[in-house]
Amino acid sequence: MEDTDVTWIEPLGAPLHGSTRVPGDKSISHRAVLFSAMAEGTSRVSGVLDSQDVRSTIKCVQLLGAKVNLEKQVDGSLSGGITGWGDRGPEQPDQELNCGNSGTTARLLMGVLAPWDIRATITGDASLCRRPMRRITAPLMKMGAHFEPAGQETLPLVEEGNRHLKAIEYDAPMASAQLKTAILLAGLGAAGTTTVNEPSASRNHTELMLPEYGATTTAGNLTASVEGPTTLQASEVTVPGDPSSAAFLVCAAMLIPGSEIQIEQVSLNTARVGFVRTLERMGAEVSVSSTGLSGKEPYGTISALYTADLHGCEVPADKIASEVDEIPVLSLVAARAKGITVFRQVSELKVKETNRLAAVIEGLAQIGVDAWEDGDDLFIEGQPDLVIPDDVVFDSKKDHRLAMTWALAGLCGKKRVGVKNFDSVKVSFPAFLAQIAGLSR
Ligand code: S3P
Repeated sequence: MEDTDVTWIEPLGAPLHGSTRVPGDKSISHRAVLFSAMAEGTSRVSGVLDSQDVRSTIKCVQLLGAKVNLEKQVDGSLSGGITGWGDRGPEQPDQELNCGNSGTTARLLMGVLAPWDIRATITGDASLCRRPMRRITAPLMKMGAHFEPAGQETLPLVEEGNRHLKAIEYDAPMASAQLKTAILLAGLGAAGTTTVNEPSASRNHTELMLPEYGATTTAGNLTASVEGPTTLQASEVTVPGDPSSAAFLVCAAMLIPGSEIQIEQVSLNTARVGFVRTLERMGAEVSVSSTGLSGKEPYGTISALYTADLHGCEVPADKIASEVDEIPVLSLVAARAKGITVFRQVSELKVKETNRLAAVIEGLAQIGVDAWEDGDDLFIEGQPDLVIPDDVVFDSKKDHRLAMTWALAGLCGKKRVGVKNFDSVKVSFPAFLAQIAGLSR
């Protein structure tokens, strides 16, 4: 008898062809909703991703008093107005702020709430309640926010803000846009300049979007600052397509001979498209062409042509943040490349929605591919003639990016595969299966 939480994924059977668009960028969508909720006046947002994670952010800002009037569009995105709390500040919520599976929601909210004298319980699902939060609470406590229980690593946590936050200069121990953003958002409510220095460059959507809401920011490659105190002013944001979702289609094109696809109107922010560089280094025929700017965010087209001879490559530590969410799916491509691929210093993968480092090694072992961890580096020994065995059942560990990665092993091969808890794709790319099937012809 088949296990009921296993979804069987059948091979697509034909190459991928044609042009498509992917749903709105998740990181930019979270920020558009949060910054609009913080702002004075009514912002207009469009192209917002409709997924479980973004819905978590919307629900939380509504509990804090923002008025969200977003409507589903024919392309599946959300558009409309968000009226923020502005100078009045957020309302005392009458229930806990449940961030579901979304680390971005929980961590960014901690920064948003830090300058206000309300008390809020921040919690999430089982996965989120295992993820590290001290990286965020420690700097916010230095600024003057309170958390209970003090010093606890995991959610649920009660946050009590402080109207007299201190601006700080903080040397972040890891390249994390969630950490950087939490501090910068708190800094909007602190008198003076709040600065975050990073060991390598994380995604910079916050620094690019805050000036659109009237904030004064300065940003270098490894440093970002905001001036406070200030109140954000309503703005307009059009969210481009999510490169992290596009990566699944691009990698699929590298796994099905004869494929040739273009993904249009997708974010080409260099802090996000590291996966394109890695595929290029493997010898893949992929390219990007910029077509415009949405605010300060570049977007355009990613083209991918199936390439028979891929070879392993090395991804240096300082490039990991630019493809941190794509390492599982890149690992599946590396599994069919000639030679060894190494991703340097990927310990952050251990604290994503699940331990993705262990999960990638475990899943690749199930298809006979040797992958291992050594000193926080991930090694994958590719097999150009890789054949996926019959009826493999992968465990997504309720992690959306693992669910899509392992689904590709079935979609792009000759044998069906099972994926446990496949419905976790709702977190970032609910229409993933329909979209990839629509390209197969
Ligand atoms: C995100 C930043 C990244 C990324 C996550 C979204 C963001 O996390 O993995 O999916 O929107 O800021 P870290 O900043 O913790 O690396």
